[in-house]
Amino acid sequence: MDIVELYHIAEQEHVCHKPKRIRCCSAAGCQSSGSEVIKQALVDAIATAGLTQEIEVSSVGCLRFCGHGPLIATDPDDKLFEQVTVADASAIVASLQGEPCAVQPCDPHQPFLQDNCPLCWKIAVGSILNELKRTSQWGGMSRSTMLSTS
Ligand code: FES
Repeated sequence: MDIVELYHIAEQEHVCHKPKRIRCCSAAGCQSSGSEVIKQALVDAIATAGLTQEIEVSSVGCLRFCGHGPLIATDPDDKLFEQVTVADASAIVASLQGEPCAVQPCDPHQPFLQDNCPLCWKIAVGSILNELKRTSQWGGMSRSTMLSTS
């Protein structure tokens, strides 16, 4: 197979896509949280709404926020939903039709900074301190020294 054949395959794939797409994480974390059942619920909700020509559902790899799974992403509106349940399927499909959606969104820019999650804060603060230490902005101070002086 050469590059021309690869471009041809990519073009065929692109043409086959429906205008709207729901991406279901099917990696280990979300799969262990029931993502396959949710995917089927989304397919059923699309069929029930009569939108099979407009919306497709695809299994995709890890969407990077495994601790918030099962995760669902929608295109073209580029939304990300966390801790999705079967009961959320029809609302997510409706959101692609412009309906307001009450399903929990996931903020991809601040996934760890939830006020009610002490573990998330601990991980985030640890990452920031490690990055500061790595870039030498805090000299050779140890993490415990940094924490005790603040
Ligand atoms: S396993 Fe689903 S986001 Fe990583």
